[in-house]
Amino acid sequence: MDWEPLVSAALAVRRQAYAPFSRYPVGAALALAGGGIVTGCNVENRSYGLSICAERNAIAAAVARGERQFTALVVATASSPPAAPCGACREVLAEFCADLPILLVNEAGERRLTSLAELFPDRFVFPPARA
Ligand code: THU
Repeated sequence: MDWEPLVSAALAVRRQAYAPFSRYPVGAALALAGGGIVTGCNVENRSYGLSICAERNAIAAAVARGERQFTALVVATASSPPAAPCGACREVLAEFCADLPILLVNEAGERRLTSLAELFPDRFVFPPARA
């Protein structure tokens, strides 16, 4: 797995983030199963609660392009150590991925490799199995 194009894409889209309230820009880059990359950044709102995370924006952009199969995700923040996706984004990623390698990065070059299965074990399953 060549992570470098995905890392570059996540760091680049992080610069597009609209984060005037938290001043915490986030970039996310998804690798598509068929090749190619789809990116997202966080887009905040003055009502705060309507702010959307980078990861969920990347998923939404990919689905709108007809892409639902992903092979890897990079999340770029300024945190040290690099920050992992929030709980809401883990749930949304789990809608489309049984598992997913996730690389967390920051501008300083720190990296942590993890996965959706590690970050989000014991997921909600719907519909339940029939009795
Ligand atoms: N944020 C993300 O974009 N992804 C996450 O996984 C966690 C948080 C954004 C939301 C908000 O715009 C800012 O980071 C601070 O929480």
